[in-house]
Amino acid sequence: MLAIIGGSGLTQLPGLSIRRREVVRTPYGQPSGALTFGELDGRSVIFLARHGYGHTIPPHLVNYRANIWALHSQKVTHVVAVGTVGGIHPELRPGRLVVPDQIIDYSHGRETTFAEYGHQPVTHVDFTWPYCEATRQCCLRALNAVGEDFMSGGVYGCVQGPRLETKAEIDRMAKDGADMVGMTGMPEAYLARELGLCYAAIGASVNWAAGRGDSESAISGPGVDAAMQQIMGRVRTVLAAIACMDLA
Ligand code: HPA
Repeated sequence: MLAIIGGSGLTQLPGLSIRRREVVRTPYGQPSGALTFGELDGRSVIFLARHGYGHTIPPHLVNYRANIWALHSQKVTHVVAVGTVGGIHPELRPGRLVVPDQIIDYSHGRETTFAEYGHQPVTHVDFTWPYCEATRQCCLRALNAVGEDFMSGGVYGCVQGPRLETKAEIDRMAKDGADMVGMTGMPEAYLARELGLCYAAIGASVNWAAGRGDSESAISGPGVDAAMQQIMGRVRTVLAAIACMDLA
């Protein structure tokens, strides 16, 4: 079963014929909302809005553990997660999509693991390549199939938010090798790995990161909103193309 996690600008999935909604309880508390079960282009999928259906949960307060646990409990095997990013790499201008292949986690104070004291012997889970390559390839094939303009690969820098970054922070992230900055990629990707889910992400660049391009002196809120509206319509087309594919 495929799950789609929608981020900012994607709190609903038009094109999804909804069969039911279900509130799933987890040992980790409440997910961001009820899971939406439906069909996208003939394929059964589960949709979850990461920030809640009313977009009221900020990135640092998302219950990532409950979300991933809830999806896993419903027999989800694959997750495609959508999130907005700020472009750091010169080719990641606003309006472009990206399928990252690496992560640097700058977030803090989030619940980052299902492993808890005394439950099982301690294990260390491999995270060398944080995304599922087969699922990434499906995303890339879908992007090609619909004729999208996208960047393949790149390092996702996950910041704590909800504030945006300073120019110096972005300069430092660029030196670290980050190509994009977002607030929700972690610990979501890692928690999916802990439960053995095949997880890939699609980033939607909605602004130049702080101090870059037209964000030289400030990031324009209305500019971000306009880019988000424009790009999320295209993301829906890409998701429908992914729904048509064989997920390995
Ligand atoms: N910084 C962090 N997260 C983001 C940004 C940004 O500039 N744009 C969209 N998500």
